[in-house]
Amino acid sequence: MRRTVSRRVRGVDEIRSSRGGRATAAGPLCHEGNLSSMTKPRITLVTSAEMPNLYSDEAGLPDALSERGADPQIKIWNDPGVDWSQAGVCVVRSVSDYARDRSAFLAWAQSIPRLLNHAEILRWNSDKHYMIDLAARGLPVIPTTWLEPDQHLSKQQVHSRFPAMGDFVVKPAVSSGVRDIGRYTANDTDQRQAAILQAMHLLEQGRSVMVQRYVQQIDVNGEISLVFFNGLVSHSVEKRAELHPARITDPRMHEVVVTAQQAGEEQWRWGEQIRAVLHANVRSLLGHDEQFLFNRVDLVPDGQGSFLVMEVSMVDADLYLKATPEALGNFADAITMRAFW
Ligand SMILES: Nc1ncnc2c1ncn2[C@@H]1O[C@H](COP(=O)(O)OP(=O)(O)O)[C@@H](O)[C@H]1O
Ligand SMILES: [Mg+2]
Repeated sequence: MRRTVSRRVRGVDEIRSSRGGRATAAGPLCHEGNLSSMTKPRITLVTSAEMPNLYSDEAGLPDALSERGADPQIKIWNDPGVDWSQAGVCVVRSVSDYARDRSAFLAWAQSIPRLLNHAEILRWNSDKHYMIDLAARGLPVIPTTWLEPDQHLSKQQVHSRFPAMGDFVVKPAVSSGVRDIGRYTANDTDQRQAAILQAMHLLEQGRSVMVQRYVQQIDVNGEISLVFFNGLVSHSVEKRAELHPARITDPRMHEVVVTAQQAGEEQWRWGEQIRAVLHANVRSLLGHDEQFLFNRVDLVPDGQGSFLVMEVSMVDADLYLKATPEALGNFADAITMRAFW
């Protein structure tokens, strides 16, 4: 579905009646004696040039926001023509190109008056080094060896940092959407060579590299995503394992197989455990607590009552809004709640 919203900022003369005259925190505005007239809060859904109409799952979001009395528009984060001072509440969505120029993206985020999620949260979450913080706060994350550009590693040194047995994964620390992720078999000479080349290539580009064992349990138990809006659980999905042996996954050919699932009590407990850690972390980042408009946590159950954290997604997270009938409405409710505050 294609939908572009390109209205300009409205002046006072364009104030319209709200549907049903719902009172909001923005407050009813008297206009020619009509007490039910008021400004609709502007909400900007932020995307990238690659995806001018948002993720396909989210195409219904502008209509859902309009139905809730808001004034939605879609804008591209690095479009120089956008007047962000008039953008209202800005919701970061399909900004999937941020990894190409993370500092430009973060500078943009810092300049936006009302951004969700908070710019400092985007800074923290847009680099998977955040896994180190999660581990320090006691979460079971996938064990990772970090290769850093400033270590100036030789091929031999990279080789010696890979596991000797089993399958392993090489991925950049700043990335999303399964870009540049390779899976290799450790004792296959050609694959090991390919893994070294991939890691060296990323390092030469100045990118940090993560090396992890391939978590076998994902083939059996899948990966579970818990999706939270304004701190409340909305829905949960199960994803099939995504990485094919012996290659780098091509994100363009890549399709995530997602099934809505009824998350059990145990999974929600894990979600809560992670949420508590995220809030402790945000308090240390910002000096105060901060509500996340959205966050998605991806877990691999270990089959023994515990889990490993694959990632926590608070930037361009795919929120699987088509996974359940309520998901899109839940997100629209969560956004409008923030806009009407
Ligand atoms: N160590 C691993 N073991 C098994 N599968 C992995 C591993 N790392 C990544 N994957 C697979 O690759 C996908 C993408 O990896 P992820 O770390 O979530 O990066 P991205 O930010 O690109 O989504 C995961 O959802 C999972 O299917
Ligand atoms: Mg992921």
